[in-house]
Amino acid sequence: MPLSKLLAVQYPTQTMAATTMSNPGVDQLLEFFWRDYSSITPAAAEICNLLAARGERYVNDHIAFRTFNLDPIGVDSLGATFTRLGYTESGEYHFEKKRLFARSFAPPAEELPHVFISELITQDFSPQLQRIVRGLVEQIPASLKNSSELFTRIPSWKPVAYADYRRLLEESEYAGWLSAFGIRANHFTVLLNALSTFNSIGEFNAWLVANGYTLNASGGEVKGTPEELLEQSSIMANRVGWEFAGGEMHVIPTCYHEFARRYEDPATGRLYQGFIAKSADRIFESTDTGVAA
Ligand code: NI
Repeated sequence: MPLSKLLAVQYPTQTMAATTMSNPGVDQLLEFFWRDYSSITPAAAEICNLLAARGERYVNDHIAFRTFNLDPIGVDSLGATFTRLGYTESGEYHFEKKRLFARSFAPPAEELPHVFISELITQDFSPQLQRIVRGLVEQIPASLKNSSELFTRIPSWKPVAYADYRRLLEESEYAGWLSAFGIRANHFTVLLNALSTFNSIGEFNAWLVANGYTLNASGGEVKGTPEELLEQSSIMANRVGWEFAGGEMHVIPTCYHEFARRYEDPATGRLYQGFIAKSADRIFESTDTGVAA
């Protein structure tokens, strides 16, 4: 089944090029994110196809983005696009060890995905890391602060030197990943509540393994519990050939796919809307290369 057919389940399909998007609406943006993400994450489209073959409906729970805490691309600047589209801030999260700060944004309509944006606290790293990162971020015009072009301008910066990528990985897997890929969807997430042929996240995970996927086992294959109102799992990122400065190609982890089951929040009578920092902390490791200590 062509991807566009599958997307029609969740997002209206329309032909559009990033360069022609001025003031995109939420559907246009979501479609753009999916096209970009699935183009470098073959597993995402495969899982979509496998679910469709079971007669399942793909509902996206959330999309996550990574950034650096530097102007003009800090978490608040990226978040501005979503608040303009009617999203509201729904939580903030601190990841002490990885030196990350994040915010989540709840959608204006139930059928739309949540958004999770994290940023690396760059001043907590070595002068060398900060110098490499500044060299990337400086390529983005300051005038784009708060603009949705921060997302649709792909690539965000010229290919990073492979030596710099490796240097960043030694200090922060997150920084290394971001230097190679720039600002783009890091993962989409299947909302398991919307599936009818799986009884639990464990059953879903077993199905993924039977289909040849490797689960992220950091902190256990299932992160979170029904009592915490959110269970999550993810597969390890796809590895694809990626271009670095000078046309050098290396096979590195790109993006991964995540799975989430939400439970009713007794406080509101609705499905829990937030995220759990200690679960997200381990999910970040789905793009690990094995370089960092
Ligand atoms: Ni996530």
